[in-house]
Amino acid sequence: MTQTANTHPALNTGSIQNLELANRYVLAPMSRASATEDGVPTAEMAEYYARFAKGGFGLLIAEGAYPDTTFSQAYSNQPGLCTDAQQEGWRQVVEAVHAQGSKIVLQLIHAGAVSQVVDVPHGPSPIRPEGHMLQMYGTKQGPYEEPAELCEKDIAALKAGFVQAAKRAEKAGFDGVEIHCANGYLLDQFLTPETNLRNAPYGGSVENRIRLTCEIIAEVRAICRQDFVTGVRLSQAKATQPDYFWMGGLDDARVIFSAVAEAGASFIHFASERNGYFYHSSTKDGVRLTKLAREITGLPVIANGGLEDFSLSAQILSEGEADFLAIGKSAMCNPDLPNRIANQQLLKDFTFEVFSYGIQVSGQLKWEAEQSA
Ligand SMILES: Cc1cc2nc3c(=O)[nH]c(=O)nc-3n(C[C@H](O)[C@H](O)[C@H](O)COP(=O)(O)O)c2cc1C
Repeated sequence: MTQTANTHPALNTGSIQNLELANRYVLAPMSRASATEDGVPTAEMAEYYARFAKGGFGLLIAEGAYPDTTFSQAYSNQPGLCTDAQQEGWRQVVEAVHAQGSKIVLQLIHAGAVSQVVDVPHGPSPIRPEGHMLQMYGTKQGPYEEPAELCEKDIAALKAGFVQAAKRAEKAGFDGVEIHCANGYLLDQFLTPETNLRNAPYGGSVENRIRLTCEIIAEVRAICRQDFVTGVRLSQAKATQPDYFWMGGLDDARVIFSAVAEAGASFIHFASERNGYFYHSSTKDGVRLTKLAREITGLPVIANGGLEDFSLSAQILSEGEADFLAIGKSAMCNPDLPNRIANQQLLKDFTFEVFSYGIQVSGQLKWEAEQSA
């Protein structure tokens, strides 16, 4: 890679609300199933997250944490944020990251119909999600089950779960939360007409299908201090349906972006897993959704999907397609990616061998030790 790295636009400072960020590099949320059985983040996780802060990431988005103890947990050893012990565990993580000068936001995720842990997964409608459970994440395996339908009381409870978890995140010292409405998890199951056969208020029109996400954002904004960042992660594709595009294309996108902005979202983060930024962040007709989100809402937009690529990321930032770049897999192999870019050093290529000993942080550390032996 030949580059004039010191002038790369990703090295410019940025801000989200009042949160001043050292650069435009954001660590993408990545579930590592490394908490205790009770979902308590560990000292090992604190060290793991501190690596990215030390490596120059201006903002870290910590992996999806489950917000309540009923139906929300996705995987075994996933961290949660609904008990005092979990809150204290996260405090260690936050302190380790802040000590290195970076900011950290926690993703809150409800698995809904794709839970691989709860006895009876619950979703918007009794529709079995397409595809198979993710092998790396235990506990259950095989095709997804048909979920039970959430009743009104369940929906009120899960909403309260998100709001209380956000309050706990604030108490643990996080700079904000990211509400996960992406990749086929619960809030995206509501947004997706194929998995949401409900009537109003949460089913039917796209306005109704994004309503639950918006109500959560608005309630979090109302209960947390004013400068507590509350972003949202959106996507077209699902973890097990990489070729899914929003049915209503541009029309749906306009409604979704306007609705989350009106609800008070501090940023929009567009996930582009598997086939990269251009494929997943565009409508089928090739309209770039990150740029549209920026234009419609004026909010900071985080792009994602293979953005370790030096020229692609420069293009995205300089052409106004996004404000920040979330880096996932490449960050796993280059926790010091921003520093490497600044110092004109080559990046290591990501390899799935990182997961030779499992998806857990301990497995990666074992693999790394072997590589350097
Ligand atoms: C091991 C792993 C775990 C992930 N866990 C999450 C998660 O908890 N929440 C989420 O929104 N996305 C999750 N993702 C998706 C990433 O945030 C990101 O969108 C994806 O890796 C594409 O970005 P990249 O091309 O930079 O890797 C995960 C991805 C990987 C590889």
